[in-house]
Amino acid sequence: MVDKTNLGEAKKAKQDEFYTQWADIEREMNAYLEYDCGVFRNKTILLPCDDPEWSNFTKYFALHFMDLGLKKLISTSYAPESNYSGAFYEPTLFETESPIYEAEKSKVNGRLFTLTPEDITGDGLVNIDDLQWEYLEGDGDFRSDEVTALRDEADIVITNPPFSLFREFLAWLIAGKARYSIIGNVNSLTYREVFPSIRSNKLWTGPTITSGDREFRVHPSYPLEAAGTRVDDEGNRFIKVKGVRWFTNIEHGRRHEPLQLMTMEDNLKYNKKIADVGYPKYDNYDAIEVGWTDAIPSDYEGIMGVPITFLDKYNPDQFEILGITQSWDDVSGLKVKTYPQQTQISKNGTRSQVMKLNDGPAIKVEVAPESTYYEIEGEIFIKKYARLLIRQKK
Ligand SMILES: C[S@@+](CC[C@H](N)C(=O)[O-])C[C@H]1O[C@@H](n2cnc3c(N)ncnc32)[C@H](O)[C@@H]1O
Repeated sequence: MVDKTNLGEAKKAKQDEFYTQWADIEREMNAYLEYDCGVFRNKTILLPCDDPEWSNFTKYFALHFMDLGLKKLISTSYAPESNYSGAFYEPTLFETESPIYEAEKSKVNGRLFTLTPEDITGDGLVNIDDLQWEYLEGDGDFRSDEVTALRDEADIVITNPPFSLFREFLAWLIAGKARYSIIGNVNSLTYREVFPSIRSNKLWTGPTITSGDREFRVHPSYPLEAAGTRVDDEGNRFIKVKGVRWFTNIEHGRRHEPLQLMTMEDNLKYNKKIADVGYPKYDNYDAIEVGWTDAIPSDYEGIMGVPITFLDKYNPDQFEILGITQSWDDVSGLKVKTYPQQTQISKNGTRSQVMKLNDGPAIKVEVAPESTYYEIEGEIFIKKYARLLIRQKK
């Protein structure tokens, strides 16, 4: 059972139990189908970290089993006693009325659900009613040998994995050969474990979630005082989550659409956002700051630092991604300076000695801003958010 005595752990465990809405799954899968209508044909699809009684992933693929032409659908669930909802767990009638139901296993084992082209109910259709299930040997942890063997059997893996294990889950996927599409937070792309795959065009973001927040269904025990929660007419609870993205290596059309851009001169003249701030050069990277994706100058041939949300518009035929302004990324060789200790002056005037300026793009300014800034031997710097370092392809 997950230890919920530690508040941080409890918060993480709860976030691991956010359930994806049908419409979000449908929109993303439709985008892959629009690009390649045979993308799922004759494929084995694995949905790990799932649970058909709670999650829409299995329901969606079971409903579309025939029209997508699937070869096999496999989904696995995580044992209630291993996850946050264990304390509130009650097996459903679907499970207790089955001849293979075992009370103890129901709590401590994961479950394996499979659907093949065999019409078990004999109603002329293959759908969720033909889903077969059994207990897994273990608790359904994706890192277990049995779930890893399922990953290796699958052509495509799709899920919303536990938020707290995103890095590990992605590493587990990358270690296999299957294509995949998973939900995560946009900030994950700045991680050392994630960014290298993005730079080498082995991983990209999906086309259907690019801004705003998304609602996820939460457990009936989820505290309603938490920000962004709501209850629908049937008593289901939902929470709004910001910064959600699909991370995938399945092709889609958006990543082949070129971004329409203005020249630097026109941006400086007509783009209100850029008119005041221009395109300052970083002090510690060999690149200019472009604070908004729509302000990327079409005629600039050098290296540019752009917000990480640039990835929502990224077309690998138009741009190359060279690096990221994180201190661990030394592959790009674009970092030209490492600062000695700095004095950080926060908004309320508090002064502290830090090394933070080395972990981001720094811009030298003449006048101290009202927001946080840094001082080194009388020189003033501001630090921007993490930036992707990009260049246009010729
Ligand atoms: C964010 S929820 C998403 C559930 C479902 N895939 C969906 O999107 O509706 C993540 C799920 O992973 C399960 N989980 C947590 N840790 C896990 C682990 N180590 N291995 C497998 N599943 C895990 C959680 O119990 C939860 O059901």
